[in-house]
Amino acid sequence: MTDEMTSSIGALDRAASVYIAGHRGLVGSALYRKLQSEGFTNLLVRQHNELDLTDRAATFDFMLEAKPRVVIDAAARVGGIMANNTYPADFLSENLQIQVNLLDAAVAARVPRLLFLGSSCIYPKLARQPIEEAALLTGPLEPTNDAYAIAKIAGILQIQAVRRQYGLSWISAMPTNLYGPEDNFSNTSSHLLPALIRRYEEAKAGGAPTVTNWGTGTPRRELLHVDDLASACLHLLEHYDRAGHVNVGTGVDHTISEIADMVATAVGYTGETRWDSTKPDGTPRKVLDVSLMLQAGWHAQVPLREGIEETVAWYRANFDAVRR
Ligand SMILES: NC(=O)c1ccc[n+]([C@@H]2O[C@H](COP(=O)([O-])OP(=O)(O)OC[C@H]3O[C@@H](n4cnc5c(N)ncnc54)[C@H](OP(=O)(O)O)[C@@H]3O)[C@@H](O)[C@H]2O)c1
Repeated sequence: MTDEMTSSIGALDRAASVYIAGHRGLVGSALYRKLQSEGFTNLLVRQHNELDLTDRAATFDFMLEAKPRVVIDAAARVGGIMANNTYPADFLSENLQIQVNLLDAAVAARVPRLLFLGSSCIYPKLARQPIEEAALLTGPLEPTNDAYAIAKIAGILQIQAVRRQYGLSWISAMPTNLYGPEDNFSNTSSHLLPALIRRYEEAKAGGAPTVTNWGTGTPRRELLHVDDLASACLHLLEHYDRAGHVNVGTGVDHTISEIADMVATAVGYTGETRWDSTKPDGTPRKVLDVSLMLQAGWHAQVPLREGIEETVAWYRANFDAVRR
């Protein structure tokens, strides 16, 4: 690890106040579990209905009153391809409002350490694989989620601008596709893995002889367990202090067909999987270059097969409360 990466930071005080924005979501809840298990005793949280981060005045009131030492921004309007493609104006506007309010309020409160979470959709549609951090702003975005991506890119730039203008040690991380407990299993707004889990669970429960998935099954995707992301976030807060964003992933990809097989096995579905090649495949490969994260001393640990089994178990145990 270079000196530049580690300068001015180190282990966080376990008694420091840490505000996790979006603590009930997939990422925020994993962060909450992780920080609790690491002995943090002063975690600040507000539910969406208690503090709407699109409300600028309320966000400032909260931040200036709480004056947290650390902020992690895991609040966002998030969705899969269908939701992003259907509501681009809402995705752009809400995400810009959430992050601008949160970051401006954190500047006003002079929060010394802040982690902004973006997403791998910030990269150009045709970025060279594995995608390096330097690919940002080198080409056109994937049109189905360009509005969301532009909001996230603005967040990265705001972090850099705050570092320059105010000298605060703020950082940003770009996770790959995530999965795990507390995911969103909605038919209209879920991501790849929760969508597959729900589809195979329902096929098994209904005794369906076949499951038909979109596309050919050949595109390759990377998946990171959200507990791994939470551990990466803590690691970054304690060990990384650069203006440039950092990719967080496994660096390993699988075909969608392999992923579907893992889900079918974890669910115990014994029927046939078919592929509807009249439906779009999306980009052929999407995997992050995680060299910088490795250099910073962190790597993913949850094996995909185990992570999927655990997520299926969580889905069943929490069936009535699952977002769907
Ligand atoms: N899921 C992935 O695969 C993935 C991959 C890469 C990056 N990320 C990034 O990780 C971050 C969190 O995503 P996630 O998957 O955890 O999403 P999520 O499960 O939908 O959680 C988002 C959280 O933000 C809250 N929220 C939304 N709008 C808000 C508002 N106006 N005020 C206050 N709270 C609000 C939500 O509360 P309500 O549910 O009550 O609205 C929810 O608790 C996002 O920045 C996303 O880009 C996610």
